[in-house]
Amino acid sequence: MKQIIVKCPGTVANLVCGFDILGLALNEPSDILELQLLDKPEVIIHNRDHYNLPTEPERNVAGVVLLSIMEKLDKPVGFEVTIEKHIKPGSGIGSSAASAAGAAVAANHLLGNPFTTDEVVQFAMNGEKLASGVKHADNIAPCILGGVSLIRSIHPLDIVSIPSPDLFVTVVHPQIEVRTSDARQILKQQVLLKDAIRQWGNIAGLVTGFMKNDYDLIGRSLEDVIIEPVRSILIPGFDEVKKQCKEAGALGGGISGSGPSVFMLSRNEEDARIVEAVMKGIYTKIGIDFNIYVTTINKKGVEVV
Ligand code: HSE
Repeated sequence: MKQIIVKCPGTVANLVCGFDILGLALNEPSDILELQLLDKPEVIIHNRDHYNLPTEPERNVAGVVLLSIMEKLDKPVGFEVTIEKHIKPGSGIGSSAASAAGAAVAANHLLGNPFTTDEVVQFAMNGEKLASGVKHADNIAPCILGGVSLIRSIHPLDIVSIPSPDLFVTVVHPQIEVRTSDARQILKQQVLLKDAIRQWGNIAGLVTGFMKNDYDLIGRSLEDVIIEPVRSILIPGFDEVKKQCKEAGALGGGISGSGPSVFMLSRNEEDARIVEAVMKGIYTKIGIDFNIYVTTINKKGVEVV
């Protein structure tokens, strides 16, 4: 096989209480990535979208992933990649992870699957390092594996897939850009013990809620007393969206990844559509353009199409 096309899902990292350790994959939006194997050790990048992302391999998320894979090979191969992004960079819906994970999975396929899933995740994390300054796998793991992922540790890598009920996800993306690196820099480096206790209660509650299909427990556990109070100031309308969506029947939700997107989980499509209408009303009133997705959890991860 010389050429492959993959579909790379958007992801919601953190899932409110699980900063850097929880994430889920979405059925919408997703990117398309085409990869071709070359017999020269070079990386050629084309963008088939209007985001003007860098095409120098060292400055491109997919590029650094492919370079890191080439370093591990004992034969002189290269890659030509065409990226068609539908997940807007800086949206908080795992745009960089989709490119990084897509490149890693596609390259592994083209090479005849020499690498394990953990190794593919490791390669893809090089893209996150370029994008946000830090390796984290809470977008990469669900993007590659699908479903809900717990990243118990990245040194050594320890990823656990968590079963979940068929939830609906409403994601609103107010059209402002928040760079993950900036959204990380503003965080406090110390937490109070009382906040840590509350947060780990929520993480355990959320994971248990997913595993037991306990919607009320999921809803109660979607609470973040550490990151959200700091980051939410970057997102216009955040408090209103959260309050009104919950009053309208959402189980709960919060900042998607590092923002500015905000997501809400719902039991069924009807509730998710009501949440969509609430979000539309709020951002129309504030006067900020937005995109909204009403979607479900993607169970497949990066997929060959
Ligand atoms: N866990 C990361 C963060 C996700 O919140 O900074 C970035 O998409």
